[in-house]
Amino acid sequence: MTLSIPNGGTLINRWNPNYDLAGFTETIELDETAISDLDLIGVGAYSPLTGFLTEKDYYAVLNNMRLSSGEPWTIPITLPVTDTLASGISIGDKVRLVQDHIIYGEIEVTDKFRPNKEKEAQLIYGTTDKQHPGVQKMFERPEVYIGGPITLIKRRPLDEFTTYHYDPSETRKNFTAKGWKTVVGFQTRNPVHRAHEYIQKSALEIVDGLFLNPLVGETKSDDISAQIRLQSYEVLLENYYAHDHVFLGVFTAAMRYAGPREAVFHAMVRKNFGCTHFIVGRDHAGVGDYYGTYDAQKIFSNFTSEELGITLLFFEHSFYCQKCESMATPKTCPHDKKNHLILSGTKVREMLRNGEKPPATFSRPEVIDVLISGLKNEKAYV
Ligand code: ADX
Repeated sequence: MTLSIPNGGTLINRWNPNYDLAGFTETIELDETAISDLDLIGVGAYSPLTGFLTEKDYYAVLNNMRLSSGEPWTIPITLPVTDTLASGISIGDKVRLVQDHIIYGEIEVTDKFRPNKEKEAQLIYGTTDKQHPGVQKMFERPEVYIGGPITLIKRRPLDEFTTYHYDPSETRKNFTAKGWKTVVGFQTRNPVHRAHEYIQKSALEIVDGLFLNPLVGETKSDDISAQIRLQSYEVLLENYYAHDHVFLGVFTAAMRYAGPREAVFHAMVRKNFGCTHFIVGRDHAGVGDYYGTYDAQKIFSNFTSEELGITLLFFEHSFYCQKCESMATPKTCPHDKKNHLILSGTKVREMLRNGEKPPATFSRPEVIDVLISGLKNEKAYV
């Protein structure tokens, strides 16, 4: 076995820093989601996408969880613009993609369409409730979608994440250099607690390496910031992981909180980074009570393993059991629930913000120390 084959067969490369922009007139200002999507399309993280979705692909993704070519794709990667801006853009135009007066790319416009956002909300997020952070964001973005292939001209500065920023071609090189033939990808938007560590290490028992790939793009405001999380990953890896078997790299996409749909998207993207396996635990990419605990696992039954091209590793809800004196899941632990240590994310964030330490059976003390001091400093700036 070798590293996974990217979606569509080859890694897309749309990055050309010398692209000639002479003669371009219109400009689209990118929001945080669009600028990260542009970058990720450009370096092949979203292979087989070569640009923002056309109308045909958009509806294929909504209705069939696939692109119009038939390849699995579950999250619409879109470029929304206002009505006013759209009226100045015609099919066939080449438009600059800009943020704060800096040109990051261009798009060759093949499509301009008014999406059905109610339908998008229902099919992608499973709800039209605007309390849902992904739905809210989608509705806040402008009303017309521009589609077409892009060229990435400039990489966005990532400041504190630079050390851990790798393109798919680079992660592949690193995995190969380490001699890994099988690599399990792990998505997270949270500090890694014992439950995460348990499922990662359980997976590691059957593969060569772990690609710890925390999402550092836009998240909802009460999630712990990526800067603080990154420090927590560093202390965790330093103290508790076998260095030859783990690789830390950031995932710069925005979080959609689309649960099952996002789980498939996360898996397909990690395949582009070279992962042969991907972990999906309980309520992957979920928020509130919008999704069933294992919906993000069940959705994969809509695809054949040939279509997916990456092996899914599903884990049940894991916790520390006082009677087992170890981490466990309902699959491995016969004891009553009262022996299980289960703390919700919200509860833990509340404890940390009050300087309270969750027990070592929930999270490594080194991680807790980083989180408490990080949140204290963060508060000082608020
Ligand atoms: S996510 O939004 O990025 O999925 P989180 O960082 O909490 O959130 O989860 C990362 C991965 O770990 C996901 O695959 C999730 O399903 C899994 N996971 C988180 N907590 C648990 C747990 N207690 N038991 C099993 N899997 C878990």
